Amino acid sequence: MKLFQPGTPGSSAMSYAGLIEKIEILRTTLRWASRLERPEIEKLLRQSNTLRDEILQLSHKERFVKAAAAEVEPTEKLPGQRRQALLERSFVFEGTFGDNPELLDALEVAEKAAPTDLPVLIDGESGTGKELMAKVIHANGSRADKPYISVNCGAIPDNLLESELFGHKKGAFTGAANDRKGKFESAHKGTIFLDEIGELPLPGQVKLLRVLESHEIQRVGSDEPIVVDARIVAATNKNLRRLSEEGTFREDLFYRLSVIHVSLPPLRERKDEIPLLFSYFCDEAAEMLKRRPVKMSPALRAFLLSYSYPGNIRELRNLIYRLSCLAGETADTVHLPVDIRPKNQTAATTVNESTAIPDATPASLSDARRIASDEAEKAFLEKGLKEVGGTVAELARRCDMNRSHLQMLLKKHGIHSKDFRRQAVQPDGNGDTPIQRR
Ligand SMILES: Nc1ncnc2c1ncn2[C@@H]1O[C@H](COP(=O)(O)OP(=O)(O)OP(=O)(O)O)[C@@H](O)[C@H]1O
Ligand SMILES: [Mg+2]
Repeated sequence: MKLFQPGTPGSSAMSYAGLIEKIEILRTTLRWASRLERPEIEKLLRQSNTLRDEILQLSHKERFVKAAAAEVEPTEKLPGQRRQALLERSFVFEGTFGDNPELLDALEVAEKAAPTDLPVLIDGESGTGKELMAKVIHANGSRADKPYISVNCGAIPDNLLESELFGHKKGAFTGAANDRKGKFESAHKGTIFLDEIGELPLPGQVKLLRVLESHEIQRVGSDEPIVVDARIVAATNKNLRRLSEEGTFREDLFYRLSVIHVSLPPLRERKDEIPLLFSYFCDEAAEMLKRRPVKMSPALRAFLLSYSYPGNIRELRNLIYRLSCLAGETADTVHLPVDIRPKNQTAATTVNESTAIPDATPASLSDARRIASDEAEKAFLEKGLKEVGGTVAELARRCDMNRSHLQMLLKKHGIHSKDFRRQAVQPDGNGDTPIQRR
């Protein structure tokens, strides 16, 4: 197969032509075969699998070249446009929501790193989406249809670590009743996600370094080297650079792992994401709990916008699930866990919705602005949907917006287009509607 040569005019067409030729050979073989025996079927299957892999590789490569060619300075684009540009390049988000510039920086780095085999180190506080980011990198790379194996380095006892990662031979230690392959072998051709890498003890770090250098492993109790081709993505909520300066993490391993370094900001530094995230999790929780998405009282909304979320997005998600489970139609601050509930809420009021406190003053001027702009955006979308009878595509066309971006905004506000289906405003005499005339 001729490889796709970035920047060479017509090279992509050449590679596609080569693939089409191979497909034609396969088709001809099938066309003239009067009867196929099992071995021939197996052979044809193998050939089609190779072809499929080559096509996938080509399309990933092409996507990478496109991404690399998008040399626009991130700051020149608005967050919505950056997300939109990623969408247009068929970026797989794996459910990662948000338009925060730092998150978009991280996604754009992931986009460029994904098709390569370079190691990636993701850091960020607990619950900021490190594992999700690792899945994004896997899903956007050429290994997307190969295994993704996740290992929590902090959860494996020291004496089992080597066997867990590299496997063992029967009889290698007491209890090793059979040969067993480790996580690295299971991740062959795919991606291995080494979570909590900062917890890996020093002997494990030495072995990992060896794998990174030689691409070989040895099962415990065996001298035989086994070649492994696993792309490494590691994550930590620790400052590995500091740990390596202190001597608890090997400096050479730190540099090896962090060829590409992605940092995820804590939620308190991207509060602009909160409305979008909570409407997303409200829908998710509603689906799981088989209920309508819970509504938020203004006091609860103000609290959720100003709270500091030490557990980051995971904490926000868990809070929304709790609220969706405990509240009736509208959740209020009384449904929050006691330890974070604002002081003036007592246990006696916990599940009585009629006692929900009225509107609270936002914590700061920027919160007040955010709430006001949120409300204006919501009102605009509801009015628009009413005018187009709930047809999202039509509203997107009229507002000259991308449909998926519009859908994301609707989700953010918990607006369901189907609720507007029967409310369509009839066009007036000249067939025009208010939105068209704006
Ligand atoms: N940007 C995002 N959009 C939507 N959901 C997110 C986002 N970031 C994180 N999540 C969700 O938040 C939860 C926590 O994310 P994840 O497990 O990836 O965090 P983590 O950084 O690996 O946490 P820990 O350090 O505790 O292991 C998951 O349910 C994940 O799907
Ligand atoms: Mg994690």
